[in-house]
Formats: sequence, C-alpha cells, structure tokens
Amino acid sequence: MSISSLLLLVLLALLSLCYAQKEATIQELRLAFNTNRINSRQLVEFYLGEIKKLNPVLKGILEVNPDALYEADRADRERAAKVPRSMVGLHGIPVLLKDTIATKDKLNTTAGSFALLGSTVPQDAGIVSRLRKAGAIILGKASLSEWSSFRSLSAPSGFSPRGGQGKNPYVLSATPCGSSSGPAISVAANMVAVSIGTETDGSILCPTSFNSVVGIKPTVGLTSRAGVIPISPSLDTVG
Ligand SMILES: *[C@@H]1O[C@H](CO)[C@@H](O)[C@H](O)[C@H]1NC(C)=O
Repeated sequence: MSISSLLLLVLLALLSLCYAQKEATIQELRLAFNTNRINSRQLVEFYLGEIKKLNPVLKGILEVNPDALYEADRADRERAAKVPRSMVGLHGIPVLLKDTIATKDKLNTTAGSFALLGSTVPQDAGIVSRLRKAGAIILGKASLSEWSSFRSLSAPSGFSPRGGQGKNPYVLSATPCGSSSGPAISVAANMVAVSIGTETDGSILCPTSFNSVVGIKPTVGLTSRAGVIPISPSLDTVG
C-alpha cells in the first residue's frame, strides 16, 4: 500500500470517528457525564459550534440562550458536588424548544412572528419549569411554520418571517415539514440531541418523519400545555 493511500485511509477513519461522535442519545450523554468523558459545558460548546456552522443554511434555530453556558456550568458544579438529581434524567442535557413555548428568561417567545418580538411572558411554560427542575439546559428556541401553520393554510411549511425557510438537512431542496420543523431539523443535524415541539394535526409526526428522527406525540392532556401558544384545546399536545 502506498503512503498516500495509507494516509487517505487514516484520514477516512478519523473522519468517520469524528462524525460518529456527533450523534448521541440522551442515554449515551448521561453515561458520558457519569463517567467523566464529557461535561455539560463541553457539550453546550459543541452544540453552539455546530449551530454557528450549520444554522445559517438549515435555519432550524431562531435564538440561542445567552445563559446556556452559565446553566451548563451550574449543572457541572452540581454533578461535581454529587447532588442526587444530577446523576439522572435530563440533568445537564441541552434541550431546544419550539418558539411557541414560553420561557421567562432572555429568550423571546414569538411563534416565529415579528408581532410578538420583545413581548414578555408571565412565567415559564409548565414543561419548561419541569425541565428546569430536572436540571435541563434550555439551549434556545427552534424555528417553525409561523403560528404553528395556523396563520395561513397556504404558507410554506417550515417558514416564518423571523426564521426564514427551514431546510431539510438530508435534502436541502425538500420540505422539512412543519409545523415543528426547527425541532426536527436541529436534532437531525446534531445541533442538539433533543428538542420539544407541539402538535395539533401532524406537527410532530410529519417533521420527525421527513427529517428521519424519532418523534413522540403524547396523548392530548398528558403533557402540560400551560404557557404554550395554543390552537385547539381538544387537539394540541406538547412532545
Ligand atoms: C429577543 O428579541 C430582542 C428584540 O426585541 C432582541 O434584542 C434580543 O436579542 C432577543 N433575545 C435573544 C436571546 O435573542
């Protein structure tokens, strides 16, 4: 084997290693935390880097949380102090939220519309306060079809005035499907491991299937909808 083909092989092996390491489940991240192979700060820094690199094209994310690294440091301190909740579940894991889910922090909650930009919400959405209680890090707000597709039935899927047109990472010219397009795009492209969307009629199932990620659409009423911009009380669910 020539030196150059050997070098090429080594390069390919390294590349595939790098690529494989970008994709991780919550369980794998949990294990990596608990065995000190990575901490929350390193994980958030990694995702912020990927967002900077990929999001200008994919447009899956509207805003990143300016406090994400601060929250990561806090999670790492709690893990170092062996606080019981820090060894389980979503503690220290970055989570991305569809932009219809209220957060009482520096992030805006706008449903992708300029109409709500700069407005303030009274409190965190029900699921956000639970996520924070579990120690999850709110990484940012994901893009969507504006107003969860209910502004107009003919508006393009995955488009919002604030976010522009979200792209399907596997086929940039294909639709990412909506309305929870950003949450699915971002997980598919490894800009975050897990995200939260909402569904009224297909808005979790369609984007997760089109972007080749796993989606869970809970039975209506199982997850809190408090603080989530609504469409229909008998159909909306957060998942
Ligand atoms: C929220 O929107 C305001 C504009 O009203 C903007 O200045 C601010 O940077 C936004 N927040 C984040 C976290 O992007």
